[in-house]
Amino acid sequence: MTTSPSERGVSLGMPELPAPAYPDDVRARLETDAREIIARYPDSRSALLPLLHLVQAEEGHVTRTGMQFCADVLELTTAEVTAVATFYTMYRRRPSGDYQVGVCTNTLCAVMGGDAIFSELQEHLGVGNGETTDDGKVTLEHIECNAACDFAPVVMVNWEFFDNQTPDTAKRLVDDLRAGRPVEPTRGAPLCTFKETARILAGFPDERPGAVEASGGAGPASLVGLRLARGETAPARVVHPREGSSQDGDGAPQDRGAPEPSPSEHPSSHDAPQDTSASDPAHPAGPAAEEGE
Ligand code: FES
Repeated sequence: MTTSPSERGVSLGMPELPAPAYPDDVRARLETDAREIIARYPDSRSALLPLLHLVQAEEGHVTRTGMQFCADVLELTTAEVTAVATFYTMYRRRPSGDYQVGVCTNTLCAVMGGDAIFSELQEHLGVGNGETTDDGKVTLEHIECNAACDFAPVVMVNWEFFDNQTPDTAKRLVDDLRAGRPVEPTRGAPLCTFKETARILAGFPDERPGAVEASGGAGPASLVGLRLARGETAPARVVHPREGSSQDGDGAPQDRGAPEPSPSEHPSSHDAPQDTSASDPAHPAGPAAEEGE
């Protein structure tokens, strides 16, 4: 689906009509929130990114009204605000669904099945990239790498992780979202709607019970390299759920019948930091010699 010039903030030389204003009560509420956000920064214009999330939380996408509001409270031009809002993909420029389902189709996820997931979801939902289902529940999107490659292929719903997906699990996920059945991200905070997510991204506390405790922290696959580098333990092989195995919370295998090999014996030990001069005595590590020395 293509965006219209006005959605992209592009003028065709016609004078644009002024953006419609928020109702007085909405504007008063947003101004209170905006003051709180602006107070966090030494320079008010630094508050633009969270303010765009704030107006996105109000309407579900960044409208001309929202951009005018940001420009007013930050004393910026609408052109400056539009330039930022149209640059970052986390700001949506047209009405979208309650759940933004992003399928990572960057290289690693793509080869691990992301392309297949995206293509099957398109067919299953009957929508293309950036389009929303008729019930207004799900917007399907390609997304770029979210630094979760060790859990590829990854699907994100409103920026919460659903790791190690398959076409079937992804289809179940969108079916559950559309039916209003509870779904639980693989890790991180519980799922909420896109508007609620936008408010949290504006910097307001997530007050849902257990949300703070659940957020943050790396998943076990991300910590394997760190554990190996520290020589703490041999890393367990993180097995993809589709292979029918499982792991406990710290990444160690549940079957502890066989002793773990030491890091140097482990098949992945080549990933551990090596002593460069020891590994290549003919070329010891050190400052490069000047030419002619
Ligand atoms: S390539 Fe998909 S998370 Fe990095």
